[in-house]
Amino acid sequence: MVNKYEALQDLLRRRGFAWGSFEIYGGARGFYDYGPLGATIKRKIEKKIREAFIREGFFEIETPDITPEEVFIASGHVEKFVDPLTECKKCGSRFRADHIVEDVLEIDTEGLSAEHLTQLIREHDIKCPECGGELSDVWYFNLMFETYIGPYKDKKGYLRPETAQGIFVNFKRLNNFARNQLPFGVFQIGKAYRNEISPRQGMLRLREFTQAEVEIFFNPNETEHPHFDEVKDEVLRLYPIEHQLKELGMIELTLEEAVKKGYLLNTFFAYYMAMVKRILLDIGIPEDKIRFRQQLPEERAHYSTDTWDVEIHSERFGWIECVGIAYRGDYDLSKHIKESGADLTVMIHYKEPKSIRKLKVSLNMKRVGPKLKSDAKRINQKLQEMSQEELKKIVEGLEQIGKVIIDEYELEKDDFIIKEVEEKITGEKIVPHVLEPSFGIDRPFYLLLENSLTVDEDGRVYLKIKKDMAPIEVAVLPLVAKEPLTTIAYDIFRTLQKEGFIVVYDEKDTVGRRYARYDEIGTPYCVTVDNQTPEDNTVTIRDRDTREQIRVKIDELPEKLRELIFG
Ligand code: GAP
Repeated sequence: MVNKYEALQDLLRRRGFAWGSFEIYGGARGFYDYGPLGATIKRKIEKKIREAFIREGFFEIETPDITPEEVFIASGHVEKFVDPLTECKKCGSRFRADHIVEDVLEIDTEGLSAEHLTQLIREHDIKCPECGGELSDVWYFNLMFETYIGPYKDKKGYLRPETAQGIFVNFKRLNNFARNQLPFGVFQIGKAYRNEISPRQGMLRLREFTQAEVEIFFNPNETEHPHFDEVKDEVLRLYPIEHQLKELGMIELTLEEAVKKGYLLNTFFAYYMAMVKRILLDIGIPEDKIRFRQQLPEERAHYSTDTWDVEIHSERFGWIECVGIAYRGDYDLSKHIKESGADLTVMIHYKEPKSIRKLKVSLNMKRVGPKLKSDAKRINQKLQEMSQEELKKIVEGLEQIGKVIIDEYELEKDDFIIKEVEEKITGEKIVPHVLEPSFGIDRPFYLLLENSLTVDEDGRVYLKIKKDMAPIEVAVLPLVAKEPLTTIAYDIFRTLQKEGFIVVYDEKDTVGRRYARYDEIGTPYCVTVDNQTPEDNTVTIRDRDTREQIRVKIDELPEKLRELIFG
């Protein structure tokens, strides 16, 4: 019996897909290198995501990895992007407190506070897994990597823990670029960094990883997605909170039913869930290995009021979150408005002008003029600039207590002229709401390979990766390394290269061994130049999965291969 997980690990390292970084110095946990084949697949995953969102009319941007601390103070990451940590009092090793408690007590610790975890450690006398020593009280550890910007240590920065903030802080420019019209979407593909306390599960929990994050800005009063009809019949495997709490398990529902039954907030959510699923299918993840799980309230990030995880099944690790679709509301933009003072609102124009009743409050100058002297003008100006809420408070104060204090002057109801006027307005400023599909790239990469690794009845181990995702699309092989077969094969290889295929030429070893070599790395087609080729200008194309061969004319080869690989 082949152990698929071990076979995959061996394949990843031996054939140049991916391996732990800094090997020659003993390695560093939480960091992975992509080799030539791995990097090609990773780019293909990114390309599928990029092209899907470009087809939606979204814009791509690129912003720095290093970010001044103000940004993450505003976004809440400095305060809230933390994990619970405990330290062994004997050997000094540090661990994630929730993981230790989970491992020993076999309970779900999601959402438990530091105090609660400390209590569990004490009650159950949980010891250090390394040396059996006593564990400290649990405290919170911020996962962001800190750095300093410039030669002095006075300007702190962080490596971004998510790419999203680069989009939020640019909202004003992006909104201008989108011609001040909602909804619009912006995405960014780049690195994110989290100083995970105990990176586990190989490539699934990294300290440096790639994200493709999409921020969709929309008017919270218009949550009907204009193209929902195109996806409403799509059936998704859903695992809503309610079903988790009642242990009812997964359900399969069309998106229309899911919205109707209230599992999904709105058709905006539903539309992008369908889109994420389509992208994962397009990457080559099997449909039955994809499910949508709604996060429990205690699992959600500080900015989110509803999140659905898109999980992919791993034979070894179970269901793994690969994409998070979060409703971030106006959390981020409002925080950046407050901290930076920038105007990150959008003017919404009504179809018809609306008439509203507005409160107008001014000083009764005849009465207060002599008392306030030169301050009267200033206070009057201040009243003109007050928001409706502030004016309402003044009027309420006058009605309830009979007086208000403005700039140390005690003023009574008769000191004011209070009027309600009818006003026509053509629009209003709003802070847009945000829906965010956030893809990790490394997790889908690993899970694509794990799900593609196939063992035949006869023990052949090969990578049955979706054909257009293969890192080498075609191998051109002369049957034997002899003239004229080698020259003809090499010419075909050059032609296919110029036609844009990722192609190799290989004449080493027997043809059987070469087929096995390319099957193993997922090359969907081998083109073989055999003894018949010099006679009739035909070659064979061998299919990786069926091992069947067809004969085609050399001139028709690029066209035929394009059809077979890219459909
Ligand atoms: N901006 C939202 C956000 O960052 P997240 O759920 O923390 O949400 C989104 O991350 C995706 O990034 C995850 O679904 C996962 O694929 C990937 N990801 C997060 N942490 C990771 C880690 N330590 N290693 C590898 N991928 C990770």
